[in-house]
Parts: sequence; structure tokens; C-alpha cells
Amino acid sequence: MIRVALRVLLAVPLAGVARAQPQQVQLQGAQFVGSAGCKSSSCHGGAGEKRSQFITWTRHDVHTRGYATLTNARSERIATGIGLPQTQEGPNPATTSTRCTVCHSPFHSVPQAQRASAADPTESVSCESCHGAAGGWLRGHTRPDWTYATRVGAGMRDLQSFYVRANTCVACHQNLDADIVAAGHPELTFELDGQSAAQPKHWKDPDDTGPRAWLTGQAVALRELSWRLALNPTADPQALAQWSALVWLLSHVTSAETSLGTISPDEQPFAQVQQQADALARRAAGQNLGREFAARVLQRLVSLDREFTLTSNTPREVLFRRAQRLVLAIERLTVANLPPAQRDQPQSGLGSLRDDLRSPAAFDPMRFAELLAEFRMSVSASGP
Ligand code: HEC
Ligand code: HEC
Ligand code: HEC
Repeated sequence: MIRVALRVLLAVPLAGVARAQPQQVQLQGAQFVGSAGCKSSSCHGGAGEKRSQFITWTRHDVHTRGYATLTNARSERIATGIGLPQTQEGPNPATTSTRCTVCHSPFHSVPQAQRASAADPTESVSCESCHGAAGGWLRGHTRPDWTYATRVGAGMRDLQSFYVRANTCVACHQNLDADIVAAGHPELTFELDGQSAAQPKHWKDPDDTGPRAWLTGQAVALRELSWRLALNPTADPQALAQWSALVWLLSHVTSAETSLGTISPDEQPFAQVQQQADALARRAAGQNLGREFAARVLQRLVSLDREFTLTSNTPREVLFRRAQRLVLAIERLTVANLPPAQRDQPQSGLGSLRDDLRSPAAFDPMRFAELLAEFRMSVSASGP
């Protein structure tokens, strides 16, 4: 968990080498200033699209609720379930345990010396949780002679890179200790494209970046699951099933688009898959994967129905996780194929595929295969 804390808070892209030495990076001691440092109306708390990021975040973004969630009854039940020590009086232990605050209110675990007094431990997921500690660039970043590269050089996280962006979000959106899930926490399934669309955007991405965000995110999710399982292969069967499902999905994607390298479908050591997945994420983030890519991969994925009927020795839990990742993929790739104006409309056909995915216990692979075949028919009838 501490490791996760550092990975969330440090203003560095996390992978490979960087992740091996988090403590050293922390010693560089970037200061967190808190969102109060960003909110003046002449900065990010003003009217108009260019200055309204603080308003969008405070009024519409669920990230501001992170701390409040820890005060509610569900969190109290989770805290009890994982055995956090209860105090007779005082707040619910979830509000002060790093096992929760690390994602829900990260300033809580930043040493006081590295926090300005305005950076309150109850601030939830705020600007610097994503953009990096601002101490080094707060004053400079508005100077007209500072380019984007100057700001990034001064420690602002390069979130325009989909690779860095995926690394930032995944730190809080994929790996979660099994006892926390068992105690009633929602399962986490990282998917950058859909989750970016769901977060009220305070920025504008270029058109047609959806498939790139989707693939970078899935590869980064696989890398993180591999990293975790390499440390402890047996602690979390659910993580193992998610891992195996992503290997399956991405092996199909990389065989439909060979320029990206390969994720091998065969059983391989976690450490090796971690490397392959990181390489895939970097390549995907750097490529222009547009509608043509989306159409080609989609065609491949909607033809996988027989994988759900002919794999009788694959555990049902794994089939369920495959179906879950597959439907997320089909959804994002379908959306990418629509003209921008239609991307917000609900996708007919996907609804019934999703219905089958409400719980592993209710999942029927045969039925899912039929629904997928029907969906394929409807896609090929209406053309790409
Ligand atoms: C420091 C941890 C942290 C980081 C970094 C982070 N999130 Fe979150 N996110 C959370 C927490 C915690 C919640 C749940 C808030 C609540 O309801 O209490 C959440 C909720 C969400 C939700 C709503 C629930 C859901 O899963 O649909 C979306 C969407 C989301 N985050 C997207 C993103 C995206 C996109 C990024 C990267 C640009 C990101 N998050 C980065 C911690 C984080
Ligand atoms: C790895 C990051 C992470 C950790 C650690 C974590 N959470 Fe969460 N939590 C999230 C994210 C992300 C969501 C949003 C998930 C979603 O909506 O799909 C969330 C959602 C929740 C929700 C549901 C919120 C809602 O709107 O209903 C509760 C309750 C919760 N967390 C409590 C806790 C408690 C208590 C702990 C500590 C025992 C904890 N969390 C630890 C990331 C985390
Ligand atoms: C959950 C993660 C997250 C949080 C929290 C967050 N941002 Fe962002 N922000 C992003 C991402 C992702 C981008 C898109 C990459 C980019 O344009 O640099 C972005 C872009 C921006 C941009 C560039 C806008 C543009 O159109 O180019 C500004 C300015 C900004 N954020 C300010 C803020 C401020 C101020 C806060 C706090 C009030 C904040 N952000 C909170 C993730 C986050």
C-alpha cells in the first residue's frame, strides 16, 4: 500500500526503472500547494473555458468526493471488515488509514514538511494528485516564455502523453487489496477511454484519440496486474482472472495489429508479461490509432463468440473476466467508429451483452456467445 502511495503522489511517470526507486524520487521533495493555490479567478477558478478547471472539478468531478466517501457507512463497514482498529469515539478509521486515503485523499499520507498549510489532508483527489506537486512550477508555469516542455521539465506531469496519463489514473483505478474487495469495496477495472469520458473534462483532447487511450489503458492495466502478481502470484484469484482475461484480449488485438508488438497468448512469467505490456502501452500511446484501426480490431473482437463455447476447461471466472474486458473494448471501439456528434448516444445491442455481465455467478458463457454472434450480425448488416 505504501508503495501505491508513493506511486500515486510522485510526479514521475511510473514504469520500469522509475518504479524501482520510488523513495529516492520522493527525497527530491516537491511541495504540494493544495487546490487553493489554483483557484483564483484569474487562474483556474474563472469563467470561460480556458480558466474554469477549478469550477469543473469542484462542481462536477466525483474526485472531490473521495474523502467524504470515507466518512460514510459503507466505508465504515469496509473498515471493520478489514480489521482497522475501531476507536470508541472519533472518526471512522477509514478516514485516517492510509489503506484508504492513499487513493481517496492522498494528501493524508504526504509528510507535513512537503505540504503547504493550504494542502489539507481531507482535500480528496485534487489537481496535484494528477498534475504532480506544484511547488516547483506554480510560480513559473504562467510565464509567457515557459513552453509546455519547460513546465514538464519543472515537474508538471506530462498528461498530454496518453502513456503518462494512463500511469497516473491506473495508480488508483486497478489494483486493490483482495481483503478490501472482500469487505465490500467495488471492484476496480481500469479502462482509460471510457473513464476519461466519464470524468467531467476540464480539457479538450484532439478527435480520434479514443482507440489510442483505450489500448494504452488496457496495456497499462495488464502491466500493473502483472507487477502485482509477480510479487504474490496466489494472494488474489480475482486479480489472476483479470490478468488472464487481459492477456487473452490483448493477444487478439496485437495479432490484428502487428505493428504494435505482441502479447503472447501462452502462459508466461508475470515479469515477462509486465515488460511486454509496458512496451505495448508505450507504442500504443505514441501511435495514431484512428477509426481504421478501431474498425479492424472491432471486427476481430466481435468474431470471438466461439471462444466462449469451445473452451470448456477454462474456468467460468476467467470466461466472465474475458467477457467483461471484451464488452468494454467493443463499446469503446464502436464509439470510435461513429462520427464525433453521435459518440454520446447509447449503443443498441451492447445493452444485452452488458446484462449478462452483472455478476460472475449469473454469467452464462453460452448465452453470451449467442448475444455476441447476434451483435456481430447487426454490425456487419449496418456496415462499418
Ligand atoms: C489519487 C487517486 C486517483 C487518481 C490519480 C485518479 N482517480 Fe479517479 N477516482 C479516484 C477515487 C478515490 C474515486 C472514487 C471517488 C468517490 O466516489 O469516493 C474515483 C472515481 C473516478 C471516476 C468515477 C467512478 C468510475 O470509475 O466511473 C472516474 C470516471 C474517474 N475516477 C476517472 C479518472 C481518470 C480518467 C483519472 C486519470 C486522469 C483518474 N480518475 C485518476 C481516485 C483517483
Ligand atoms: C487503489 C485505490 C483505492 C483504495 C486503496 C481504496 N479505494 Fe475506495 N474507491 C476507489 C475508486 C477508484 C472508487 C470508484 C470505483 C467505482 O465507482 O467504480 C472507489 C469507491 C469506493 C466506494 C464507493 C463509492 C460510492 O460512490 O459508492 C467506497 C465506499 C470506498 N471506495 C471506500 C474505501 C475504503 C473504506 C477504503 C479503505 C479500506 C478504500 N475505499 C480504498 C479507489 C480506492
Ligand atoms: C483526475 C485527474 C485530474 C485532476 C484531479 C485534475 N486534472 Fe487537470 N487535467 C487532467 C488531464 C488528464 C488533462 C489533459 C491533459 C492536458 O491537457 O494536459 C488535464 C488538463 C488540465 C489543464 C489543461 C487544459 C487544456 O485545455 O489544455 C489544466 C489547466 C488543468 N488540467 C488544471 C487542473 C486544475 C486547476 C485542477 C484542480 C482544480 C485539475 N486540473 C485537476 C487530469 C486531472
